[in-house]
Amino acid sequence: MNINDEILKLNWHREPYGLYAPIAYTMAAGGKRVRPQLAMIACGIFGGKEDEVAPAAMALEVFHNFTLLHDDVMDKAEVRRGRPTVHIQWNENTAILSGDQMMIEAYKLLSEVPAEKLPKVLRLFNKMATEICEGQQYDVDFESQDDVSIEAYLHMIRLKTSVLLATALQIGAYIAEANEQQQEALYQFGINIGLAFQIQDDILDVWGDPATFGKAVGGDISCNKKTFVYLEAMRQLGNEAMRQEAMRQEAIALKEWYSQVLDDNTEKIAAVKSLFEQLNVRSACEAVVEDYTQKALQILSGLPQNAATEQLRQLANKLNTRKD
Ligand code: IPE
Ligand code: IPE
Ligand code: MG
Ligand code: MG
Ligand code: MG
Repeated sequence: MNINDEILKLNWHREPYGLYAPIAYTMAAGGKRVRPQLAMIACGIFGGKEDEVAPAAMALEVFHNFTLLHDDVMDKAEVRRGRPTVHIQWNENTAILSGDQMMIEAYKLLSEVPAEKLPKVLRLFNKMATEICEGQQYDVDFESQDDVSIEAYLHMIRLKTSVLLATALQIGAYIAEANEQQQEALYQFGINIGLAFQIQDDILDVWGDPATFGKAVGGDISCNKKTFVYLEAMRQLGNEAMRQEAMRQEAIALKEWYSQVLDDNTEKIAAVKSLFEQLNVRSACEAVVEDYTQKALQILSGLPQNAATEQLRQLANKLNTRKD
């Protein structure tokens, strides 16, 4: 079963048009479909039935797309997957309400999971959904906080990004009747690839090619997001500033840019990017992405080894160096 084809078969031709057209627009725009793939592969590792996991896999993707509609309002993002975001193409009210409906559609799909497995699947899904909201709140709170620690950042991205990947894997494994320990191992694998995934996303937000990334570059800088890239720059400046007067000025400049909320961010993005590039920030961040990926891959060695496990390994390695 090709889960992407199943997702594209979902029918959004309903009335009122103003509610469903933005959903059709979003679901047809593609994206990497990472979360449904993870659920399908996890189920495959334990020889589960594809038609049992497919509704959950689709629910995870619809839910993910719902979070993007609201996230783009919160982040004032104007482009996604190479197209105007829903709040730009329509308006904010549309992004809110069509997003709400997508969340409901996700739960409708989820309810098609075999009845005896539904209670636990719902429990896992709800826990994940709450954690994403918590992560998103920390993400917004941190925009106006200038003392965010690496630990606080990692906690925030674990919530906003990792738990969705981890839960996709755990649900897939649970539906395939993997034991608790195996489910937990895949969950931890997902947490680690999720941390790598979000740090890679932070890197792409600065250095991505808009043509492949599909999002505007510099959006995180405009919003004063405390990304791994920013925190790593501040960490390096903190060390260097102790030794060199010049670096103290750079640290002050970076903090100063990050205290501003502007209408036109062109100059700010260029200046902050240039500060990042005077440091060893990009390669340091890439090394951390690689570390979390390796940590994840180690966890896989304790699981059954078959074609699906190999597929999961390949996916983790591909995400690690992705450009989109
Ligand atoms: C975007 O997720 C949100 C993040 C967690 C960074 P993806 O990068 O998976 O977005 P699509 O679905 O492929 O567009
Ligand atoms: C993604 O964070 C987290 C969620 C959407 C829940 P970002 O805000 O970094 O994602 P992008 O970069 O807009 O895709
Ligand atoms: Mg965003
Ligand atoms: Mg965001
Ligand atoms: Mg991002």
